[in-house]
Amino acid sequence: MDKKKIGIIFGGKSGEHEVSLLSAASVIRAIDKEKFELHYIGITRQGRWMEVPKILGRDIDGERDITADIIEKGSWEKAAKEFNPGELKGRIDFALPVMHGPYCEDGKIQGLFEMLDIPYGGCGVLASAVAMDKALSKKIFEMEGLPVCRYELLTRRDVKGSLDAAAQRIEKSLGYPCFVKPANMGSSVGVSKAADRQQLKEALNLALEYDKRIIVEEFIDCREIETAVLGNDSPQAAAVGEILPSAEFYDYNAKYCDGGASKLCIPADISEEAATRIREMALKAYMAIDGEGFARVDFFIDKKTGKIYLNEINTIPGFTKYSMFPLLWEAAGVKYGKTIERIVELGYERYYAENSGQTVL
Ligand SMILES: Nc1ncnc2c1ncn2[C@@H]1O[C@H](COP(=O)(O)OP(=O)(O)O)[C@@H](O)[C@H]1O
Ligand SMILES: [Mg+2]
Repeated sequence: MDKKKIGIIFGGKSGEHEVSLLSAASVIRAIDKEKFELHYIGITRQGRWMEVPKILGRDIDGERDITADIIEKGSWEKAAKEFNPGELKGRIDFALPVMHGPYCEDGKIQGLFEMLDIPYGGCGVLASAVAMDKALSKKIFEMEGLPVCRYELLTRRDVKGSLDAAAQRIEKSLGYPCFVKPANMGSSVGVSKAADRQQLKEALNLALEYDKRIIVEEFIDCREIETAVLGNDSPQAAAVGEILPSAEFYDYNAKYCDGGASKLCIPADISEEAATRIREMALKAYMAIDGEGFARVDFFIDKKTGKIYLNEINTIPGFTKYSMFPLLWEAAGVKYGKTIERIVELGYERYYAENSGQTVL
């Protein structure tokens, strides 16, 4: 049988472009090239679609995968050729988006794959869009009886209308310190902790640079606990891990630029009961948003009270060899390369379930 042509889709228009390059390079190094024919599809920051040519794809120098190296370094654009995304189906059999943030993880590109009739890895349109919006997903979690912290949603209109009125509303309902975030973003981009009115106003303006919807949350003095989910109709949760950030909170620098000072602790040093509850809540949240394929589900545990809060679901979590999602599955006995293969299998499974034997009336 011919090898399936897997398009690794990386880069993208979001503020998490660089993070995607790291994740994609790791996936490319790990994926079994005996089984799959890889195509390297990059999306530039401006949204142009490009393919890094095959000759580079074969260019493995000893242990080094040259294509992965140039993608990681961000110099892939020079070697790539632009194409019309409408022609994607002719190039690949299956799309594996390894991108984060708006246009990449929020259902938009998933909608394009659906329209082009290309099977793809990870959550579908609805789950991706809902999980990306921190305010909407919290509303759904609340409806499911899942514990979330207190929060307020502000729109651009609220903030532009009267910054003072918006700040006063937050002061009254949540107080200080509070966390201000663009509703649709990731990697802590645009996220700030505000300790007074002045900081709150600055934080609102910053968040507005990234999204027209802003979520403000009560501050939880917390431990950060995460688990990883894989599956379609019968999803399963892996081990539970803890993030030990190198900074006051897990900001962009602590995530990617601190040279490894932030640590992951797997399994998390929490009680068996707490770990079981977290896994159960993760699966409930995943199913509530119609999760498919995979996702990482993040929690806070209040350091003083021990109360567990569901923070967010990431439908395309960081995917380097050192990222929490693959490591949680390694701890559960599934190797990095196998986790990627499982995501491909699940994407095909969904595609065939949706497309086999259906007649359109
Ligand atoms: N309500 C909160 N209380 C305390 N810390 C928070 C709160 N919300 C976010 N943080 C900190 O900010 C980080 C980023 O916020 P998060 O909601 O996870 O956004 P992102 O999608 O960018 O990862 C978290 O990992 C945590 O360190
Ligand atoms: Mg997060």
